[in-house]
Amino acid sequence: MTVHSPTPDLVRVERQGRVAVLTLDNPPLNAQSRALRRAIMAAIAAAEADPAVHALVLMGAGASFGAGADLGELVARELEDPSPRDLHRVVEGCSKPVIAALHGLVLGGALELALACHWRIATESTRLGLPEVSLGLLPGGGGTQRLPRLVGVARALDMMISGKPVAAETVRTWGLLDAVVAGDLKAAALDFAALGLSPIRVSARSVDPASLPEGGFAAVRATAAAGRGPTLGPSLIIDCVEAALTRPFEAGLDVEDAAFRRCLASPEADALLHLFFAERAAARIPGLTAKPRPVRTVGVIGAGTMGAGIATAFALAGMSVTVVEDNPAALERGLGQVRKNIEALVARGRLSPDQAADRIAAVAGSLDLGNLAAADLIVEAVFENRAVKEAVLARLGQIARPGAILATNTSTLDVDALAEASGRPADVVGLHFFSPAHVMRLLEVVRGARTAPDVLATAVGLARPLGKIAVVSGVCYGFIGNRMLEGYLREVDALVVEGVAPARIDRALEAFGMAMGPCRMMDMSGLDLGDRLMSEARAAGHIPADPSYRAMTPALVAAGRLGAKTGLGFYRHEGRRPVPDPVVDGIAAETAARLGLVRGPAPSDDEIVARCLLPLVNEAARILEEGIAARAGDVDVVWPAGYGFPAARGGPLHWADTLGAAAIVARLDDFAARLGNSHGGWTVAPLLKRLAESGGRFADLPATRFPEPAHA
Ligand code: NAI
Repeated sequence: MTVHSPTPDLVRVERQGRVAVLTLDNPPLNAQSRALRRAIMAAIAAAEADPAVHALVLMGAGASFGAGADLGELVARELEDPSPRDLHRVVEGCSKPVIAALHGLVLGGALELALACHWRIATESTRLGLPEVSLGLLPGGGGTQRLPRLVGVARALDMMISGKPVAAETVRTWGLLDAVVAGDLKAAALDFAALGLSPIRVSARSVDPASLPEGGFAAVRATAAAGRGPTLGPSLIIDCVEAALTRPFEAGLDVEDAAFRRCLASPEADALLHLFFAERAAARIPGLTAKPRPVRTVGVIGAGTMGAGIATAFALAGMSVTVVEDNPAALERGLGQVRKNIEALVARGRLSPDQAADRIAAVAGSLDLGNLAAADLIVEAVFENRAVKEAVLARLGQIARPGAILATNTSTLDVDALAEASGRPADVVGLHFFSPAHVMRLLEVVRGARTAPDVLATAVGLARPLGKIAVVSGVCYGFIGNRMLEGYLREVDALVVEGVAPARIDRALEAFGMAMGPCRMMDMSGLDLGDRLMSEARAAGHIPADPSYRAMTPALVAAGRLGAKTGLGFYRHEGRRPVPDPVVDGIAAETAARLGLVRGPAPSDDEIVARCLLPLVNEAARILEEGIAARAGDVDVVWPAGYGFPAARGGPLHWADTLGAAAIVARLDDFAARLGNSHGGWTVAPLLKRLAESGGRFADLPATRFPEPAHA
């Protein structure tokens, strides 16, 4: 084995008596790069060769021991020279005891490194996990072989298939950690080293055959296959753990190695890694260099569905929030909802009762907008009515302190018009939350024509403390997400009128991977709401006036079917269970007859999926060309985070790239020829057409730079 010279920057070595303390220092999260692996190996070789060193402590600088592999290198397939397996062989093979002293996050490759050490201690707040499945991968650095040897088959499978990090004290009771320590970690590690321990190698242990889960591997396989998420990673993890039980250690590592490479070459991993990088890229705005304004105190206006959720989200982000209503009963209800939202997190173990009480106390209520005069950020979530919102913004323009940011949560109104109403449009930005606002990860940041760069930077920067992903959208009807939704729902509606059962449509799209079929989704959000939005969009000229366009939703509403809340919609709802209802087809047939629309023939599942989802791609191409979204990756982030599009397909445009633009254009042309194109829905977007002609991909398009804000 080659021994490389130590890289002092990446591993700091310090002698404490007879102990060599090796501190990994690869900011920000000690990602395991090839250079870091080399540096650790060199430092271990040096300590091994030094007769004065009797034990080694391996720890991490910064907030965490390590958050996993360097994904950039992973994508570039830079996995060798040395591989993690080479590194672990050296660590585990060291003749002197190696103690991993862990803190913060210990994820993925960092946990695998700790498993190769001879002893493991951690601080109380440490969280340990193997989250590779969320990227379509599996632990490829010996994790599938060492973890079951330490904690047993059932727990190892659970940790690796769920991908969720687990608290230090819990994994200590499983045998993963030798001690959980309070106080100074380095001091505790030195005390531990002073005990004169000898090296204990996990690879030399065998897997306890009694630790299999109930039902054995077959039961875990069945559960993993039935899940909605990625499937290849979990199924191969099970194979690897089975190998850990039945084969010698090195042979098990070979199985793991082959499985890891299979995952890495899979479309699933390709899609999930694409989304991982797209989410990070979305937070970086091309050409934006302004520094964000500080935000500590937040005002929320309106304590309805959205206002209560938004107030909860900001309170959980550690800010102090004042909620203002013009209706005392609504204020009471809204504050009650905030309390319930936060208390629910205690029940789920996400907050301690003290933390919850502290966050609840950070939310105050008021009936006077004047109480927001000192707020750094004010988000309005009042009724979706232009006059009401303009009046609120005009008032805010007067009372908010200079430099305060004024945000609107509007879904359909013109953010530029609202900004003008405030009299200080540079301070105005759209913050489009999704319901429930404290749960949904997506935050569309709507950049107005005159939004100041530092206001935009602040809005995007809010996503991190809020635990959300921000995507910037320009101003247009529906922004990125809802604008794309229109074409999707148009086809769902049309298919039902043509005679396809809602349950069949939902099944086809759920089989594709959508979290919830569209008919069920429309029933949940309320058909009356959909119908009202549609009437307004029609009146404003955003959608065709022709009554045959999206005819099914108004027909259901006219029949008194408003969705899940009334028990009847596209389905009949028995409690929470949607049941197919033949009455719906009667309404569909009547609607078709009334409007002279053709019914049948029944399409295949593939055709249902293509009809409903290719409009997303076509509209996204227009959104990109108009500069509403800066990058294809931004569009890809919006749909999995906000609309339940399967992450394992990488978002609508990544999916489109796997199909190829030419194939998509052929399909759209075919739909236009067979179904007619009177509403223009099948007209191919110019950008999509160009990609089809050139054989290009969405992923290769350059990012659009935002224009400088317009001045008065
Ligand atoms: P809501 O009707 O549940 O709540 C609106 C609240 O605003 C009511 O409690 C009302 O009393 C209060 N209000 C009205 N005028 C006010 C004023 N002048 N001053 C103070 N309070 C006032 O409505 P919801 O669903 O919460 O929607 C609010 C906004 O969020 C709308 O712009 C809507 O388009 C948008 N939105 C809604 C989503 C949803 O799923 N419901 C999703 C994303 C955005």
